[in-house]
Amino acid sequence: MNLTNYVVYIIGLFWLTLTDAKIGYFWHITDLHYDPFHNSLELHRGCRHRGSMEHNHRNERHRDHSCDSSWNLIQSAAALMAARHPDTLEFVLWTGDILSSSMEHLKEEYKLEAVRNVTDILSRTFSSQFVFPALGHNDPPPSRKLVDMWMQWLPTEALQTFETGGYYTIEQSHSKLRIVVLNSVLWAGGAARTDGPHRGRAQWEWLEQVLSKARRKSEMVYIVAHAGPGVEERHGAGSASAAGGGELTPQANARLIHLIRAFSDVIVGQFYGHRHTDTFRLVYSEGRPVSWAFLAPSVTPRGAGSISNPGLRLYKFDSNNGKVLDYTQYYLDVTTNRGEHHWAIEYNLTQYYGLREVSATSLDALADRIRNYHDRTIFNKYISALRVRHAPDFDCDTACVHVHYCAITRAEYQEFRACVRNPASALASRAPSNSAAILLYAILILISS
Ligand SMILES: *[C@@H]1O[C@H](CO)[C@@H](O)[C@H](O)[C@H]1NC(C)=O
Ligand SMILES: *[C@@H]1O[C@H](CO)[C@@H](O)[C@H](O)[C@H]1NC(C)=O
Ligand SMILES: [Zn+2]
Repeated sequence: MNLTNYVVYIIGLFWLTLTDAKIGYFWHITDLHYDPFHNSLELHRGCRHRGSMEHNHRNERHRDHSCDSSWNLIQSAAALMAARHPDTLEFVLWTGDILSSSMEHLKEEYKLEAVRNVTDILSRTFSSQFVFPALGHNDPPPSRKLVDMWMQWLPTEALQTFETGGYYTIEQSHSKLRIVVLNSVLWAGGAARTDGPHRGRAQWEWLEQVLSKARRKSEMVYIVAHAGPGVEERHGAGSASAAGGGELTPQANARLIHLIRAFSDVIVGQFYGHRHTDTFRLVYSEGRPVSWAFLAPSVTPRGAGSISNPGLRLYKFDSNNGKVLDYTQYYLDVTTNRGEHHWAIEYNLTQYYGLREVSATSLDALADRIRNYHDRTIFNKYISALRVRHAPDFDCDTACVHVHYCAITRAEYQEFRACVRNPASALASRAPSNSAAILLYAILILISS
């Protein structure tokens, strides 16, 4: 076969795969942090009151960012999703932290009532789709009452593991895609761990079994959870301070990365929330990028460390095989639209960053462009997205750019710290991946034969 024929053949194959795609959509919503007392005038309860006392050092512009979501904000998010409802919307991922952390000390009954109200608005918004919830550290632990609320969305088998551990798996009847929803609270340190460690162990065993079985059945898997692997780029990642508040323990983080690496042939996507920022993480195997994770921004404008605007994300995927093709990020500028809820498109992933496809390889190349110290174009786009277009006056020097790069590419806490300490070694250990060379070699062999 000569080169021209070969190229035509490859383009043909590519075209076939393209035209075969069955386009579907799903929403990913996370960290709603509903605060029923948002507008209350009661002293210490109403968020605005509390917020203005806690954050009186902040300027007026940031005031709305010290409050969790009001019921109005949640209604406006639901209205946006109803208005932008594609015909082929297949399901909704809802990755926890339903309630405001200010409700922590309230009665369980009251928290469940708030969860029920949010559940009701989602089931009205998505009357013919299933919503797959994952639990966050601000949510009530798994219980019969939660099961009763969510049984409209989860099959019996899923409800069984959900009731005891808060995790479950969903088999899509019409495709090879399997959704695996984890309860990251079981693997988190500090105050977040409400159950004995045996539940966390049971979840590990269950996850390994589910992934092995998926591999045997040639299924493709989405991993979905509140908190995912990797570090917090903004402060002492992997340190004791990062271990509280729902963050995975260093052991759990390392073990999850190990599993993702081992099953990277099966896992076609990871979807997390928790950080209240828009970012991504990469997992490598022998220097080669093998898996990606997208972290969607929160609905609440209140940041965990820094502040951002509310976001909602609509994924576009091939529902035959789960391959993610793109997403559209929606946002609400709470600083300029005070009191008004004008959601708008923030960006579309592939177009925004100029990606040809969504894959670990393309995102690894993007990470390299984010780190480009000489041309800040892509980094500035990344930072704008990270904070959902909040904080345009953000200042980041070369060391700061490097920390962001390390956070994206070093999910292991120790590797992250080493990367931050030593920019030069980070460059060396990320020697150009050899996959391009292998591909070229394979093509050469084919051509010569
Ligand atoms: C839940 O909704 C009901 C009915 O709208 C309302 O009366 C109640 O105050 C709400 N409770 C919470 C905690 O949101
Ligand atoms: C992003 O994608 C959406 C959905 O495909 C489309 O309607 C919109 O025009 C795109 N927006 C931009 C800014 O490209
Ligand atoms: Zn949260």
